[in-house]
Amino acid sequence: MQLTRRYRFAASHRLNTDALSPEENARLYGKCNNPFGHGHDYVLDVTLEGSTDDSGQIVNRDELDELVSREVLARVDHRNLNLDVPELAGRVATTENLAIAIEDMLSGAWNFPARLKRVRISETPRNTFELERLDAE
Ligand code: NI
Repeated sequence: MQLTRRYRFAASHRLNTDALSPEENARLYGKCNNPFGHGHDYVLDVTLEGSTDDSGQIVNRDELDELVSREVLARVDHRNLNLDVPELAGRVATTENLAIAIEDMLSGAWNFPARLKRVRISETPRNTFELERLDAE
């Protein structure tokens, strides 16, 4: 059984790497390299996989919401992803790297029998990134 629970947050970012010159960054990241950044309304889907318990549920939704709020939303909502999120320090603030960071935040605090199966983030209606976790993790 799988459950996918949806969350939303707003954040700003700028795609830029110190490893490249300003001109190379502009060429690589285009308007996403504009100096003062830009914002997105991100949609985060967290998918769990496991069996139902005696309550007939895969997870207590309130407890899941509490964990996601504490571990993820409190760290990223209305933040500047380049400056405010230590988990992204030294990485380009792409949504690929954001998905990796959020998977780390969740798995580090995970305390449910159901396993964390997938993290999916929509950055825009056209861009959705999925990080699928392997069974062994
Ligand atoms: Ni962007």
